[in-house]
Amino acid sequence: MKQKKYLNVPKIIGHRGVKDLAPENTLDSIIEAFRIGLKWIEIDVKISKDNIPFLLHDDDFDRTTNGTGIASSYNYSQIKKLDAGKFFYKKDTKIYPPTLKEVLSLCKKNKGGINIELKPNLGLEKINVEEILKITNLFKEYVPLYFSSFDLDSCIAVKEISSSNSCGILIHNFNHYSFEEILKIIEKFKFFSCGLNIKIINTELVKRLKNMNQLITVFSEKNITNEQALYLWNIGVDSIFSDDPRDILYNFNSF
Ligand code: G3P
Ligand code: MG
Repeated sequence: MKQKKYLNVPKIIGHRGVKDLAPENTLDSIIEAFRIGLKWIEIDVKISKDNIPFLLHDDDFDRTTNGTGIASSYNYSQIKKLDAGKFFYKKDTKIYPPTLKEVLSLCKKNKGGINIELKPNLGLEKINVEEILKITNLFKEYVPLYFSSFDLDSCIAVKEISSSNSCGILIHNFNHYSFEEILKIIEKFKFFSCGLNIKIINTELVKRLKNMNQLITVFSEKNITNEQALYLWNIGVDSIFSDDPRDILYNFNSF
């Protein structure tokens, strides 16, 4: 597919920046990812009460900031005051949850690419996507990017708003949709990529997705090891999400 080649997604993508090396989904984490040599990062985007897209993985602030409660109940001016580095460094920091706009500016400056994972507020999927696309459209000539989500409604909204957007579905398991149903969905909505939990990977599944010209990515709850990475690339996986890619990058030329 033309789109897949055009984006030139590398074999390693930094997960939430590089989440084991700096606080996830912060400017610090993205700066670190580019500093150690990554070309692309993945981040999670949520929307504030006043419709500002900003970076957060969970539905609430409790795990990764000194705040509490759900993202959609706060305006971004309040969110910017939160400490998003303390959970990682175990001391007060000036690190805050950045806006998507700041992150895209950083990618532009570093000539980096980005996979934007949509973490929608329940019931507001389409409005959330609209707000995010208003921001990404400002950068489309400068920053290579594609969207992804576990939420099918968000993926469909991305394609409905503009069919030229690249979007992929993320899959933890086949409890909601069978693999055959997923293939039909990919074809129907012309999705660009398929992101799979490492737990469900097998050669047959990768082969079938490759036949559909999908960009195949793999994520894991733990940092993907060198051995796992080699196996995944060998069976045809295009890219892996890494929490700490230093070892893989160091050994990359000998793989
Ligand atoms: O997009 C891959 C990966 O980020 C999905 O899982 O929970 O880390 O957002 P999660
Ligand atoms: Mg993610």
